Amino acid sequence: MGVRKKPRVVLVCGTPGTGKSVASKLIKSILKNVTCMSVSRKVFEWDLTIAYDFERDTHIIDFEKLSEKLREEVEKLLRSGDSKVIVIETSYPCVLPDEIVDLVIVLKCPVNVLLERLERREWPKIKIEENIESEHLNVVLEEALTCFKPEKVICLESLSVEDLKRDLIQLLVR
Ligand SMILES: Nc1ncnc2c1ncn2[C@@H]1O[C@H](COP(=O)(O)OP(=O)(O)OP(=O)(O)O)[C@@H](O)[C@H]1O
Ligand SMILES: [Mg+2]
Repeated sequence: MGVRKKPRVVLVCGTPGTGKSVASKLIKSILKNVTCMSVSRKVFEWDLTIAYDFERDTHIIDFEKLSEKLREEVEKLLRSGDSKVIVIETSYPCVLPDEIVDLVIVLKCPVNVLLERLERREWPKIKIEENIESEHLNVVLEEALTCFKPEKVICLESLSVEDLKRDLIQLLVR
């Protein structure tokens, strides 16, 4: 494992519930000067919802505008020099283009474990089923591989938070 240059922009992606927020917090604790950003939080901050899917209890978002605004925000942060590392948490890796992302971490989780996690959320059954199917079919990983150079894409399936921390240290610290 390992990437050639020290990454500045790290995308942490995965099906909902695979541990993106946990991984982002761990990266913040491992490295200095880390800025974390959650794409789903930005959607609401920037008011980019365009409709509501009642069946899935989910907002439909203006993906094009989101990509544009996110890119601007990341470039502004890079120019400011305030953060050594920018970590972006998202279920949609293609929200940013290859040229501004240095490392893409795709979190994976055994589907039986993910099912337990999602059932705790009391989501509509269809939303849970679709996300389990998506994890089973590696949808996020496949999407990441269509948008980024394959050597930037690293898959982690860590079965405990301690294992995840160890895997992240191995990947990011050298
Ligand atoms: N590597 C891991 N081992 C064990 N449990 C984990 C691991 N990663 C995350 N978890 C647990 O799984 C749950 C979901 O984690 P988290 O909220 O980080 O997922 P997420 O991918 O950010 O979800 P969302 O897409 O909804 O933001 C939490 O209860 C967390 O403690
Ligand atoms: Mg999260």
